[in-house]
Amino acid sequence: MFTKRQNAWLNETRKGTPLGEVMRRYWIPALMSEEIPEPDCPPVRVPILGEELVAFRDTDGRIGLVAEHCSHRGTSLFYGRNENCGLRCGYHGWKMDVEGTILETPAEPPNSVFRNKIKHPAYPTHEAAGIIWTYMGPADEMPAVPNYEFMKMPLNRVYAAKSYLDCSWLQGLEGECDSAHLNFLHRIFGAKGYEDTYLDKYPEYTTEDTDFGVRMVAIRDAGEETYFRVSSFVMPLSVWVPARTREVHMYVPIDDGSSWRWDFGMTAEPMAPDEEIPRRDQIGPGFVRHRRADNDYLIDREEQRTKTFLGLGMNFLGHDAMATESMGRVYDRTTEHLAVSDKGVIAVRRFLLKAVENFQKGLPLPHTSKDPELPQDHIDTFAAHYPKGSDWRKVYPHLAKKKATANGTGSNAGHGVHEMSAATAGNGKE
Ligand code: FES
Ligand SMILES: [Fe+2]
Repeated sequence: MFTKRQNAWLNETRKGTPLGEVMRRYWIPALMSEEIPEPDCPPVRVPILGEELVAFRDTDGRIGLVAEHCSHRGTSLFYGRNENCGLRCGYHGWKMDVEGTILETPAEPPNSVFRNKIKHPAYPTHEAAGIIWTYMGPADEMPAVPNYEFMKMPLNRVYAAKSYLDCSWLQGLEGECDSAHLNFLHRIFGAKGYEDTYLDKYPEYTTEDTDFGVRMVAIRDAGEETYFRVSSFVMPLSVWVPARTREVHMYVPIDDGSSWRWDFGMTAEPMAPDEEIPRRDQIGPGFVRHRRADNDYLIDREEQRTKTFLGLGMNFLGHDAMATESMGRVYDRTTEHLAVSDKGVIAVRRFLLKAVENFQKGLPLPHTSKDPELPQDHIDTFAAHYPKGSDWRKVYPHLAKKKATANGTGSNAGHGVHEMSAATAGNGKE
């Protein structure tokens, strides 16, 4: 059974918490580039990992991600003036640059050097794929920005939709590690193009630990063919899923009971400038979804009887949110009953708990290489049919060619394929 302590470990991400310190050793998405589209535009709030931050793009285009509360007496810098290469507090005019250097303290005597003794908290950023990433850990432990293929893609081949999720990041993440719910939660009766998933309600699952996280394979019987869906949990908060072409779903904690869901996608062809960005139509101002708990996700009971399993239309964000938010903001996993269909969830929890435990023992964390050129093409996702009985590894050999160590150096560190028996999965031993 999942214990209260394990539940706390995997939900709490404030500074100083076990997982909070682990997450602070990775580059994570902080905000979309378009939230601060041009130099000297208004700053925006960025609440992540239990910290209140603001982001701004200065006169030279440099990005600052700094503590929201002024180092003087705590006024929010969200209300400040973004001008002349710094963010100036609205209370007494102290001005900070993108690195947290306090440039001016105009309410102090002209010869004051007090500002030189203070550094305003600021985190490094990296802009790629339309996302501003940040690293919130110790400077000397900073890994390289991961060399994922999408980091180098032209901006017209990637898209992102960010939305507020009113529950713990872990509930969102676990929804990505569970292929079985596709047959139910997202089911559209009689819809063309979804038959592959619906044919076999209880897919066979394989999971394997890798250098980056956990690879999850759902294998469905599709008559004359076998239907594979491969997803990859990537430390610390992403899952590559075969949605649309290929998507990366990321769950960034805001605090213990809320998170940002990112639907980040790669397209096969360049998108037209006026092309609608997938999922954005489901999200309103402030990244709040149209379908929420406070309007019962606009459930249509007649539709639920006749057209869809849930009654929420084709609104996939709404489907997933109903499932994960209605558990409560921080679900008490000591009361759950894990079953065979939860193999992926179990494997990912184990991987995360092991990473936290190892980190506390001073061992290296997985997927934190300092090599910016380290190939990452073994991290992937796909869904496809092949003749019955095909071996997915033979079809996609690039996924199988590498088993790296916990810190990504290339040899096998004891991770390997482990297929849990139904009994193990069913009793939920963690
Ligand atoms: S509180 Fe910001 S300058 Fe005084
Ligand atoms: Fe889903």
